[in-house]
Amino acid sequence: MKTVPLGTTGRQVPNVVLGLMRIAQMDDDAVRTLVRTARDAGIDFVDHADVYGEELHGCERRFAEAMQLTSSQREELTIQSKAGIVPDGPYFDYSYDHLVSSVEGSLEALGTDYLDVLLLHRPDALVEPDEVARAFDHLESSGKVRAFGVSNHTPGQIELLKKSVRQPLVANQVQLSITHAPLVAQGVAANMAGLDQSAVRDGGGLLDYCRLHDITVQAWSPFQAGFFTGVFLGSEEYPELNAVIDRLAAKYDVPAIAIATAWITRHPAGMQVVLGTTTPERVAGAAQGSDVPLTRAEWYELFRAAGYTVP
Ligand SMILES: NC(=O)c1ccc[n+]([C@@H]2O[C@H](COP(=O)([O-])OP(=O)(O)OC[C@H]3O[C@@H](n4cnc5c(N)ncnc54)[C@H](OP(=O)(O)O)[C@@H]3O)[C@@H](O)[C@H]2O)c1
Repeated sequence: MKTVPLGTTGRQVPNVVLGLMRIAQMDDDAVRTLVRTARDAGIDFVDHADVYGEELHGCERRFAEAMQLTSSQREELTIQSKAGIVPDGPYFDYSYDHLVSSVEGSLEALGTDYLDVLLLHRPDALVEPDEVARAFDHLESSGKVRAFGVSNHTPGQIELLKKSVRQPLVANQVQLSITHAPLVAQGVAANMAGLDQSAVRDGGGLLDYCRLHDITVQAWSPFQAGFFTGVFLGSEEYPELNAVIDRLAAKYDVPAIAIATAWITRHPAGMQVVLGTTTPERVAGAAQGSDVPLTRAEWYELFRAAGYTVP
């Protein structure tokens, strides 16, 4: 498993991560098998959020109850969670009270004393950076959170937070797959009149901003065609893309899912792919995409086959 730097923490982390948003209904054995398969493949980084599951902290609790981690097993893992979404609404809340109580709920559900990484889940239009800073200072000084980051944030929103927040923001988790790639597609077609792909949808240069500031980009929904619309792998809606994926899978002797993973890991930004599958074989297959050396021609062929324009 290839590793990448986690922001400016000095830590190396795997470039494929196990997302646990969909484990609410899995029994103990199934959760253990999923996590064991990931660990065997070199994935020692799990992604949670307070809102995953049918009730608050549901997936965090399911994970902890199934795994029953000893303290040394817990220390071997990087556990990341998120706060800031209030599902009963929904709305967003980056207030001191909400962030601190959300983290305390995560720690209780996970049965651990600390989160390795806390991400602010989705930008709160009513954000007050001083309050976020106060929450981060408390969470850091009390040992409850070791590193901080964001998710779905634009460069401007990150700059605003940085006005008050002292801690480095080490990650930005954003939606990215071959078929949902405005992060990279806009840049290659900037300033092209009349081309939808040229429209700025990421707040302006999100990917370049993260690279410039050593913020690790984490790609969520790496196999979804759109916003939870189903996967493009094997989909009749993407015959050309699947033909290219299958040809490259045969060339590199890996499953198709590894090629879809490699399209993200091949990018020189050093991104992490956040898997959401609950199927162990798919986790093992995706992990094989950690270090597939797609050529530039192959990477762009996948991009074009997904429907993007290379002007
Ligand atoms: N920060 C954010 O705003 C945000 C938003 C959404 C998600 N996330 C994180 O990102 C992770 C991944 O998101 P995701 O679950 O939407 O991404 P995904 O890995 O692209 O999609 C996984 C889903 O697709 C299904 N699937 C069907 N055919 C598949 C195939 N051939 N290969 C792989 N999966 C297939 C899986 O079913 P099976 O389980 O049956 O395999 C699962 O339901 C989540 O677990 C969460 O940690 C973050």
